Amino acid sequence: MSFRLKNLWDREGHVCPWWMAYTFDNKLRRLFHNPELMLDLWVGQGMTVLDIGCGMGYFSIAMAGMVGEKGAVVSVDLQEKMLAMVLRRAERAGVRERIHPHLSGSDRLNLPRKAGFALAFWMVHEVPDLAAFFADVYSALEPGGSFFIAEPGLHVGEDTFEKELSAALAAGFCERCRPRVRFSRAAVLERH
Ligand SMILES: C[S@@+](CC[C@H](N)C(=O)[O-])C[C@H]1O[C@@H](n2cnc3c(N)ncnc32)[C@H](O)[C@@H]1O
Repeated sequence: MSFRLKNLWDREGHVCPWWMAYTFDNKLRRLFHNPELMLDLWVGQGMTVLDIGCGMGYFSIAMAGMVGEKGAVVSVDLQEKMLAMVLRRAERAGVRERIHPHLSGSDRLNLPRKAGFALAFWMVHEVPDLAAFFADVYSALEPGGSFFIAEPGLHVGEDTFEKELSAALAAGFCERCRPRVRFSRAAVLERH
């Protein structure tokens, strides 16, 4: 483990390291997490969307296709290495111009622009301060904007997921639905 990665482990303890992302972000993933099917109701042409905790960019690249040439995807992660991988993938996929990388802090997201939709896929359980996190996402969304959360089902129990959602409601979100996502617990929230 490199010195920087070890520092990150020590500091963030529970943050998914870049090499672990290869275990789930691979070619087989489309079979059980199809972004177009999963996000079709919320992501459309011309929108600006946030991919929070984007990892290697599995959803960022797909959403860049869904928002089209006039849309934008802000790919947010606290690991520079993840953002570098997203940009490499975006280049290969021909959507580099629609992807805007944003390096966040571990405690505050400092999101650079407003968006109509936000995704946090398998990342909320890694966030140390849920109240600050949901407040940041809430203020980055346009009124009526949606926030899709999915957590890994094996790793995040029902009680923990409900606590996460309670923190989201306390930040002002209301719950819209609980979509079915393989190997996950999921909910879609909405900003007033
Ligand atoms: C398990 S990975 C999921 C990656 C991606 N969403 C996917 O489904 O392929 C979690 C990601 O969230 C990032 N992350 C964790 N805490 C974060 C925070 N507070 N702010 C931004 N990113 C964070 C990690 O660096 C990691 O890239």
